[in-house]
Amino acid sequence: MSQWVTGKILDVNWWTPSLFSLKISADIEPFKAGQFTKLALKIGDKRVARAYSFVNSPQEPVLEFYLIEVEDGSLSQKLSELKVGDEIDVSVQANGFLTIEEVPDCDVLWMLSTGTAIGPFLSIIAQGKLWDRFKRVILVHGVRYNDDLTYQHQIITTEKLFKQFTYVPVVSREEPELGLSGRITDLLETGKLGQYCGLSELPKSSHFMICGNPQMVKDTTKLLMNDGFKRHRRAEPGHITVEQYW
Ligand SMILES: Cc1cc2nc3c(=O)[nH]c(=O)nc-3n(C[C@H](O)[C@H](O)[C@H](O)COP(=O)(O)OP(=O)(O)OC[C@H]3O[C@@H](n4cnc5c(N)ncnc54)[C@H](O)[C@@H]3O)c2cc1C
Ligand SMILES: NC(=O)c1ccc[n+]([C@@H]2O[C@H](COP(=O)([O-])OP(=O)(O)OC[C@H]3O[C@@H](n4cnc5c(N)ncnc54)[C@H](OP(=O)(O)O)[C@@H]3O)[C@@H](O)[C@H]2O)c1
Repeated sequence: MSQWVTGKILDVNWWTPSLFSLKISADIEPFKAGQFTKLALKIGDKRVARAYSFVNSPQEPVLEFYLIEVEDGSLSQKLSELKVGDEIDVSVQANGFLTIEEVPDCDVLWMLSTGTAIGPFLSIIAQGKLWDRFKRVILVHGVRYNDDLTYQHQIITTEKLFKQFTYVPVVSREEPELGLSGRITDLLETGKLGQYCGLSELPKSSHFMICGNPQMVKDTTKLLMNDGFKRHRRAEPGHITVEQYW
């Protein structure tokens, strides 16, 4: 059972007609970068709750979430109507294992995301604990359209500060202005993703954190397993950690 606190909307930022970020103040328990909590609103006589990943780093006091307004979505439609000063229920406890604390030591950390699932990786990057642990950090963001490549300011700042960081935007439904064209899965299979990062093959000392569209998560995991990488479990360390958004 979730325990709830009342949060207050501090800011609403619309990136595109369907993608937006909410900044919220709420007195919740500490969380780890990469985790999620639940946001909820009263709709009719029911509290409707869904999971949302933190985008802010745990040390920042203001909570931030990156959302898509899903057509006919029960909660995201209502969340998209929120204005500064409105109240929202926030679950006090965070959850989830998409954190670098769960990742075994390795040379290359891959963060593969689609759509809003770049959020937990932005939190991990903002927290900054990863730079001492991995020789390379590769953030791949698969989206439909160029305009869906959000949070560019944070990403460009990170590129300037950390030589070991590589950002790979991937655009599937129009000619990309940056990065690669197509889907993450096809780019992995053809070796184009590795080539873009200057790698002739995927280093064996890699860990893949994969988050977003469930079919992308499943298909990517399958491809990597065909290449000899294993699902990571605490009892049996491997190379692949996943989180599906629906
Ligand atoms: C662990 C976890 C973390 C999540 N974090 C986020 C987050 O940070 N930001 C976010 O926007 N959503 C996130 N989600 C999804 C979120 O919980 C809701 O499912 C989403 O907001 C839709 O809710 P709804 O009630 O409007 O739609 P519903 O009526 O529940 O409809 C769900 C349908 O919406 C589509 N959908 C759901 N989420 C997404 C999405 N993120 N991108 C594209 N299509 C989607 C799918 O087709 C799905 O079948 C997360 C889900 C999980 C399980
Ligand atoms: N993004 C928008 O501009 C937009 C606008 C209005 C409404 N919506 C609604 O938002 C929802 C979708 O949101 P979204 O665009 O963030 O998420 P998405 O549909 O998951 O697409 C994000 C990226 O993931 C790719 N992808 C999908 N399945 C994959 C798989 N099996 N393997 C590899 N890559 C895969 C997509 O490629 P493909 O393009 O090849 O599928 C796209 O590049 C839908 O409900 C949609 O109607 C989105």
